[in-house]
Amino acid sequence: MVQIAYIGLGKIGYEIALHIANKLKKDGEPPLLAYNRTISKAQELAEQSGQHVTVADTLQQVAQEADVIFSCLFDDAAVQAIIGGQLIGSGLLKKGTVIVEQATIAPETAAAVAAQATQAGVIYLSCPVMGAPPRARQGLLIPLLSGGTAADRQNVRRHYIDGVFGKTVLDVGDDVGAALRLKLCGNYFVFALIESVAEGLTLGEAAGVGQENVKALVDTLFANTPFVDYSQRMVDESYNDQVKFSLDGAQKDTQHIMGLANQVGADLPLTKVFQKHLATLQNQRGNSDVAAVVGVLRESAGLPFDLKKQD
Ligand SMILES: NC(=O)c1ccc[n+]([C@@H]2O[C@H](COP(=O)([O-])OP(=O)(O)OC[C@H]3O[C@@H](n4cnc5c(N)ncnc54)[C@H](OP(=O)(O)O)[C@@H]3O)[C@@H](O)[C@H]2O)c1
Repeated sequence: MVQIAYIGLGKIGYEIALHIANKLKKDGEPPLLAYNRTISKAQELAEQSGQHVTVADTLQQVAQEADVIFSCLFDDAAVQAIIGGQLIGSGLLKKGTVIVEQATIAPETAAAVAAQATQAGVIYLSCPVMGAPPRARQGLLIPLLSGGTAADRQNVRRHYIDGVFGKTVLDVGDDVGAALRLKLCGNYFVFALIESVAEGLTLGEAAGVGQENVKALVDTLFANTPFVDYSQRMVDESYNDQVKFSLDGAQKDTQHIMGLANQVGADLPLTKVFQKHLATLQNQRGNSDVAAVVGVLRESAGLPFDLKKQD
């Protein structure tokens, strides 16, 4: 029997791990082995999956037991430390183990960890995802996959991605950095969208039309797109209650986008403006949901950061 493991049960990883655990249960496969730095999240996953999750107390246990290891850590430093250092560096992984990292990191970081993996006789794939936690919960993420060989990718897709947590999988080939370059293009669009929704709602409010009417227009004009979700989060100010996409994560990703743009000589004025607004948000509120960037735009138009009266 093949042992599957999941490392990194954050907002996205938790939802993906739950889909994989449910799939293993349905197929009569062994429980998912789950590790998280904060162990309570792994215990919660075990409970929610109907105990089809074994909580791993240590990364050493994961290294020794797993054949396929999915992971969704936060950033490059965590991937280097946990995947490169504590897993591959431990020398405990079985030969032929497949590691599928889902974090949004720099393509160069993935290439460096993949080279370490090759030296250790294991396979490292990049599988970042497009989609926020609610889409992850519904199994509607868009996974972007690269690295290893076509057969390696096909094997993990067939068993653990297609129809498990992924809707439309985009396979972008053997270059392990390719999925991450595509992910950064995807996040470029998401950030341009967030900035444009924040600016449009602010314009409507400042011009006396009212942000509610702008929101109604967005709902009609851009139905079934993330414009609707982001305008909802900005108007209802749920960014004050729930972090779906953290400011820390958005700042990390804009840095990676600008890093890639600088490497290839692309000018990205929209990303530069968005980065500036994120920095202002960071100074004012610290880490929060990225939709709160609308408050920065409101203040620059002479409006209050929050329009709804807070309790
Ligand atoms: N949220 C989104 O909408 C979204 C969408 C697409 C892609 N992504 C990407 O997916 C990745 C995860 O995002 P997220 O929103 O799920 O982040 P998150 O909620 O902050 O979760 C991060 C995970 O990484 C673990 N971690 C971080 N640093 C670590 C370290 N030094 N050692 C061990 N574990 C560490 C955390 O453990 P603890 O639980 O102990 O903190 C947690 O399990 C990021 O690369 C993000 O850019 C996010």
